Amino acid sequence: METLTIAMAKGRTTNRALEILSRMGIRFSVHPENSRKLVFTDDTETIRLLQVKAVDVPTYVEKGAADIGIVGKDIIMEDAPNVYELADLGIGKCKITVAGFPQTVLRNSSAMTVATKYPNVAKAYFDQKGFRTDIIKLNGSIELAPLIGLADVIVDIVETGTTLKENGLVILEEIADISARLIVNKASYAIKTASIRQFIDSMNAEVRLQS
Ligand code: PRP
Repeated sequence: METLTIAMAKGRTTNRALEILSRMGIRFSVHPENSRKLVFTDDTETIRLLQVKAVDVPTYVEKGAADIGIVGKDIIMEDAPNVYELADLGIGKCKITVAGFPQTVLRNSSAMTVATKYPNVAKAYFDQKGFRTDIIKLNGSIELAPLIGLADVIVDIVETGTTLKENGLVILEEIADISARLIVNKASYAIKTASIRQFIDSMNAEVRLQS
């Protein structure tokens, strides 16, 4: 099989994604989770794994620096990269939601202030409802924004709900279900079709076995 380069998001889903790869027979003598290295080659020398920040995975794949990417649907929704999305790994399940104080009512009375890591997703969601919004882009600790009066509501991912609960916030509306997806560079798919199809089929088989 020709070499495939995979860009994988560092973070919550890393271990689960590595488990799936391991069950597919893709194993690494240096474990990516326990290393500061950024490039890993598997024991069969057919897979090159790049560990990158989750938000950068679509860029690596769209530009062709990686053939394949493993990244959350939230980041795909936000970036809308020009790539193929070809599999759902069924891991990293969460929701992207509008959240705020329990008494907050979403309505189009005056411009609502929305704090989020996902400005495009938030804007598209409120635009289709016909709501005017003032979007504030933050990079983390989004739940803080309503607490200190920086925003009326937030658009953010909710996994266990603990962060909302511990800050007195609730889900007001659900925007979409999220999980880790496999994305593929369009030119790579045309050139390495057989290897990429084989990789995806093997991954889908493992994902089905676990569900
Ligand atoms: C994410 C998200 C929420 C939290 C939700 O933040 O932005 O804050 O996880 O998870 P929960 O429902 O299980 O509590 P992350 O942990 O990535 O940190 P960040 O605030 O630095 O973005």
